[in-house]
Amino acid sequence: MAVNLKGRNFLALKDFTPEEIKYLIDLAADVKDKKKKGIPVNHYQDKNIALVFEKTSTRTRCSFEVAAHDMGMGVTYLDPLGSQIGKKESIADTARVLGRMYDGIEYRGYGQEIVEELAKYAGVPVWNGLTNEFHPTQMLADLLTIQEHLGRIKGVKLTYMGDARYNMGNSLMVVCSKMGMHFTACTSKDYFPDAGLVELCNGYAKESGGSVTLTEDVQSGTKDADVIYTDVWVSMGEPDEVWAERINKLSPYQVNKKVMDNAADSAIFMHCLPAFHDLKTQIGKEVYEKFGKDGLEVTDEVFESGKSVVFDEAENRMHTIKAVMMATLGEV
Ligand code: CP
Ligand code: NVA
Repeated sequence: MAVNLKGRNFLALKDFTPEEIKYLIDLAADVKDKKKKGIPVNHYQDKNIALVFEKTSTRTRCSFEVAAHDMGMGVTYLDPLGSQIGKKESIADTARVLGRMYDGIEYRGYGQEIVEELAKYAGVPVWNGLTNEFHPTQMLADLLTIQEHLGRIKGVKLTYMGDARYNMGNSLMVVCSKMGMHFTACTSKDYFPDAGLVELCNGYAKESGGSVTLTEDVQSGTKDADVIYTDVWVSMGEPDEVWAERINKLSPYQVNKKVMDNAADSAIFMHCLPAFHDLKTQIGKEVYEKFGKDGLEVTDEVFESGKSVVFDEAENRMHTIKAVMMATLGEV
């Protein structure tokens, strides 16, 4: 049966079948190709979308805005301090207000239950632009990037190093296990994903032919991997006090040349960004002054190497977000 996602929310990839995920990747590849060729996809002039950000963003906000402009839609951006949401107005009330004016709503913030509540009351598609638990639009960009660089998705061995119990680790485990990929979380056991989610993903992997592995051993965990993936060790909304513990526990899982040399010859390095790989950021400098580390989750050498595809990933955020909006608003 043809895939039809009109009217659907996009909250977590747990809610989508492998066929639906593949459909979104193919649609994104198609609109990317059209954009490169200057073929407009802009028949959405009667639509307006709201972007609600309770946390900061560069890529996600810009992707939604550029995609919306390309599509001919109107956009309203509500910054972390600029609306009544949560402080003077409940999520349910906000959802019902925005749902009367807009055709779709993006939300970035804290707990997954917030974006679910928004979706419950909005009456229009709601798109998760990152919560503590999941980052599903990032996953589509990552799959498109993997397909472009490795020529395939199924069977790819992806090793995630670092904090695997937060949005990026969770989301990668879900999407890899759904798509027949081999996911390894290579990190301290204190940062392994939630056992319930691991069980769910083991079920997906059984159906798709993929696998889920959790290991503390860097040598075996990164051996012959096709993709080495990492993310910041301290995520947005977490207190500064956790840095000491993260550096202590996660330093053995830094992505460096030794890790990349142990992976497959054709391996690529991926990171959702922003990344701490040098001293050119305020937080990077502060951490260096306090802990004496000038590269955190990834060394500058790997980040800047030919194996790094991080800026392709960043670009693909826009094309994949466009695909999500097209599919859920309809009229693809
Ligand atoms: N990867 C990502 O979501 O980046 P931003 O925080 O800049 O949106
Ligand atoms: N884990 C990171 C992802 C940023 C895109 C965070 O939540 O800050």
